[in-house]
Amino acid sequence: MEKRTIAEPYKIKVVEPIKMTSRTQREAAIQAAGYNTFLLNSKDVYIDLLTDSGTSAMSDNQWAGMMLGDEAYAGSVNFYNLEEAVREVYGFKYVVPTHQGRGAENILSRIAIKPGDWVPGNMYFTTTRAHQELAGANFADVIIDEAHDSQADHPFKGNVDLAKFQALIDRVGADKIPYICVAVTVNLAGGQPVSMKNLQEVAELAHQHKIKVMFDATRCVENAYFIREREEGYQEKSIGAILKEMFSYGDGATMSGKKDCLVNIGGFLALNDEALYQKATQLVVLFEGMPSYGGLAGRDMEAMARGIYESVDFHYIQHRIGQVRYLGEKLANAGVPVVNPIGGHAVFLDARQFLPHIPQDQFPAQMLAAQLYIESGVRSMERGIISAGRDKNGNHYYPKLELVRLTIPRRVYTYAHMDVVAESVIDLFERRHSIKGLEMIYEPPVLRFFTARFKPLA
Ligand code: F0G
Repeated sequence: MEKRTIAEPYKIKVVEPIKMTSRTQREAAIQAAGYNTFLLNSKDVYIDLLTDSGTSAMSDNQWAGMMLGDEAYAGSVNFYNLEEAVREVYGFKYVVPTHQGRGAENILSRIAIKPGDWVPGNMYFTTTRAHQELAGANFADVIIDEAHDSQADHPFKGNVDLAKFQALIDRVGADKIPYICVAVTVNLAGGQPVSMKNLQEVAELAHQHKIKVMFDATRCVENAYFIREREEGYQEKSIGAILKEMFSYGDGATMSGKKDCLVNIGGFLALNDEALYQKATQLVVLFEGMPSYGGLAGRDMEAMARGIYESVDFHYIQHRIGQVRYLGEKLANAGVPVVNPIGGHAVFLDARQFLPHIPQDQFPAQMLAAQLYIESGVRSMERGIISAGRDKNGNHYYPKLELVRLTIPRRVYTYAHMDVVAESVIDLFERRHSIKGLEMIYEPPVLRFFTARFKPLA
């Protein structure tokens, strides 16, 4: 049984046709988009691997739930269903729904951070760090060194380096650290997981200093799967049990439901502390909506509640991780430089190695993503110097990782799509020497990767 192909654990009830385009059409489209794949029209995209965020296919059960939306302004039955799902599956006491993950990040940052504080994290995520900084905090990266090396092989490359965390406490003082943000898995490191042992140790150190542990739970189910696969003692445990244990080490979580809750929109802030929850309910009415809907329709909350239960099904997550790995291994076997090990939600191309002749300030990952689109209509995303942005003095952050992310939506594409993506990347790899860099011709002040525009260097 083990040796057989792990096929899709679902069958297809509704199909969405996709448009085929010619190279000439794609060249015109990427030029019009300023060589930024975020600015392409999705109708011009063949296989859309821009993100796994909000791009999941919902199940028939979730769609059925959508019809049971209770669109009351307050006290919607779907809110209570969501609250129950979060309590039952994640184990947190209080739930504040938000329109998506960054809505929860906004609220958490405002209720927990004072200007001049420090927030350590296992690498940064764009919106998470932006909200922390907006609230006046300094971000400190406390992930293990291996995470910054695309080739370092480590089963839990998302782990927090306890010595770095301790050094920050010694340097700035625990009273300046309201919480540590622990992402499970770590998106920008390549979808890399954190081990249960590390979570336990982080919580011990944090709580000893009265520092809270706040999860970025966005891809927590994927993290739980890796623990089951790789960490001693978890092979016989259910995904649900592993997830519950993971969160037992935390004080709360921000969640982008658009990933592991299998919905197209939605998120929440989960907390155990009642006083902090009270503060969150005061702010949510300003930024999102009543604490019992927080920027979501009743039907959205119902879909998310049902998605939470579906996401911990072993066969679902086994196929999910297996499909991503299938693509990654196909590329690696052809000699294409990818981040190792293959992570949970995406395969990351190492643009530094793919295009070693393009210096980082000529945006090799940005150009690689643009070229892949021209090659085949596959849309990917830059996760390198453009995503990293600028520091307070206006200089580019120069991240070690200069990556292109091929992000796999949940339950949307088949293995044949993965084959096409692999073939396209391999063809591009063969003509990599002819690819040149880019010049940035428009740069917005925050989260520039979304809307920046470029032109090719002569
Ligand atoms: N945290 C992580 C780790 C994320 O990957 C994201 C979103 C967020 C928080 C914010 O959640 O989008 O619901 O507001 N990541 C998407 C991506 C956008 O493509 O990686 P959101």
